[in-house]
Amino acid sequence: MRPESSTIPALRSTLLAGFLVCLTVNDAMADMSDQAIERRVSELLGQMTLEEKVGQMNQVHSEGPSAVDHLRHSIQSGNIGSILNLVDVGAVNELQRIAVEESRLGIPLMVGRDVIHGFKTVMPIPLGQAASWNPDIVREGARVAALEAATAGINWTFAPMIDISRDARWGRIAEGFGEDAYLVSEMAVAMVEGFQGQDLTAPGSIAACAKHFAGYGAVESGRDYATTNVSEYEMRNYYLRPFKAAVDAGVTTLMASFADINGVPATGNEFLMRQVLRDEWGFDGFVVSDWDSVRQLAIHGLTANDRDSALAAATAGVDMEMFGQSYLQHLPDLVEDGSIDIATINAMVANILRAKFRLGLFENPYTDTSGLPEIANEHALATVQKAALQSVVMLKNDHDTLPLSPEQLDSVAIIGPLADAPYEQLGTWIFDGDRELSVTPLQAIQDMLRKKVSVRYVRAMDTSRSRISEAFDEAVEVASDSDVVLLFLGEESILSGEAHSRADINLPGDQAELVRRVREAGKPVVAVIMAGRPLTLTNIVDQVDAILFAWHPGTMGGPAIADLLFGIESPSGKLPVTFPRMVGQIPIYYNQKNTGKPPSAETVIHIDDIDQHAPQTSFGMTAFHLDAGYTPLFAFGHGLSYGSFEYDNLRVENPEVRPGGMLRVSVDLANTGKAAADEVVQLYVRDLVGNVTRPIRELKGFRRVRVEPGETTAVDFELHTDDLAFYGRDHKLITELGDFHLWIGGSSETDLRAEFRIVE
Ligand code: NOJ
Repeated sequence: MRPESSTIPALRSTLLAGFLVCLTVNDAMADMSDQAIERRVSELLGQMTLEEKVGQMNQVHSEGPSAVDHLRHSIQSGNIGSILNLVDVGAVNELQRIAVEESRLGIPLMVGRDVIHGFKTVMPIPLGQAASWNPDIVREGARVAALEAATAGINWTFAPMIDISRDARWGRIAEGFGEDAYLVSEMAVAMVEGFQGQDLTAPGSIAACAKHFAGYGAVESGRDYATTNVSEYEMRNYYLRPFKAAVDAGVTTLMASFADINGVPATGNEFLMRQVLRDEWGFDGFVVSDWDSVRQLAIHGLTANDRDSALAAATAGVDMEMFGQSYLQHLPDLVEDGSIDIATINAMVANILRAKFRLGLFENPYTDTSGLPEIANEHALATVQKAALQSVVMLKNDHDTLPLSPEQLDSVAIIGPLADAPYEQLGTWIFDGDRELSVTPLQAIQDMLRKKVSVRYVRAMDTSRSRISEAFDEAVEVASDSDVVLLFLGEESILSGEAHSRADINLPGDQAELVRRVREAGKPVVAVIMAGRPLTLTNIVDQVDAILFAWHPGTMGGPAIADLLFGIESPSGKLPVTFPRMVGQIPIYYNQKNTGKPPSAETVIHIDDIDQHAPQTSFGMTAFHLDAGYTPLFAFGHGLSYGSFEYDNLRVENPEVRPGGMLRVSVDLANTGKAAADEVVQLYVRDLVGNVTRPIRELKGFRRVRVEPGETTAVDFELHTDDLAFYGRDHKLITELGDFHLWIGGSSETDLRAEFRIVE
């Protein structure tokens, strides 16, 4: 909460007083129920045997019809605290009954599943959701997912994935919200709120899990599961921030990362899980390992065997082991022989029981689907369609090629492997996603144009990876006979996600060749690209007139894309991650440091412009690549619109602000175009001098605003000086006095600048 202004008008102060009374009463009630929960946790703990305690720390995988028979005995004996991957409400209810009625202490189960961006009805991949810069739609999408997942008895999702990544090679960049700590934090909070709802005990609220703690997105060369090395400066200023935001938003659980982090794999990392998470942040939910990551500590070479791994993970603060069972097998002995204190075990089990009480599982362990909305209902479909619509980023639009006007068209060619690929458009991590619900762009465009315009379709490639170009001639022929070509390119969903990293992030297969061939037809070419990551589009960007980057847009991707192509709606997505020109630029991200030799347009020379036998010299040289310069292909925050936005009159109301004060900034935003459109207004700051060097720009605020043609609107921001704090040389959070630059605009490259200062 921000401090209130000191002069409060009478009416406001009466309202405020009432509000404060409510707050105090509500707080007291919350405290009472927290106290009641703590009392029940300790009563229960007092009755538990060591084996039953360790049983709570054990999560097992089970799927399919045999689950009940397979797990019955272990649940009766109190050896299981949680199951994952069982998606059958009848079986889940039966297992809950066995836990509650047939185990000695009747402790219900946590039932986990990867519900990452939808259950049956699928939202765009999280990276696409981030491109909407709209936390409200992310929250709503998670709500839809939670309500659908709950119908299967699931009460815990392993999401949100909030690993910051600056590496498009990493397959899991699809699952997160991009490269920026602020944007990822906003999305993390929204998703946690969506899954957990306002009342965690309500039907359809499920526990969230912020993962992967921490630094996983920094895997070397973007190779999944590889080593991460992240300095404490980077860790605290970037990678940890979204986790702190999720913890503050009340996330129930966290998941430890698979990766080695600075020499101590995250699953055995006390600094992260004890010092930061518990001691500094006061987290009182529980931490689950990743799949078998406890036993993998031995494979990493941190421990010699499973027993030592169980000891290392428990000591470091992993409360529950996902798969693996090294806790079940070894923790009792480790307690008996004094290697680990029973108090440590008690605290960990308390974390798990607390979550179960908070979820209301003791009061109601069963799922009654009659109280839950239908799968893929109208609201669900509308939500995922709106998310898809707002997530698409228009990267280029030469000569206003888009939007297309059906009145001016006789024929449209639809070409490419992803125009009609119901499964591929759903993206990675959709275990339960229903491809039957997908509406593809081909279907949606045919439906929209309804025979008024001739639509001809050539798939041209079976998969995005295909190297068979036999159908290219037909594609060129159809393109030649059409007024415009819509090329649906990209990556199939299996090319991103866990364990699906790429070293080459060009369009795969012969797609670039397809673009080149289709270009020969001489017709306007619009590329719609679906992918799980930024791609290096350098080899096709000049071959096409317009590009819509649609990520994997989910169930309703087709109608959303059709609405954008034909101008029913304006594109409004903005990039949540930088697009490199070539893979060798990675890591490339907008909030870089200045360096002692900052590059500029004047200092860059290109490899082709170096004279033969030029003498080696570093005079005047700066930080760039001879073959790629220093700028990205498309910058963080970039995204075009059918509106035409002009920013003007940037003003800082109080350019001198004291620590603890609030900075008030506004800008006028005019839409001088012909189309109504949303614009995502972005605010960036630079702290000019710090006790550690600070990035050249950092996102500190954004707002999605609808502006009608001819309208000018003032967009206001308030920034507390705490929002400018950073972790300095001693790793403590500080806000330093001094000079700042501030920019507002429609991308991270805006040059509309103001200045302010924090003064004593
Ligand atoms: C491994 C993944 O890293 C994690 O994100 C996921 O939740 C678990 N497997 C469970 O499927």
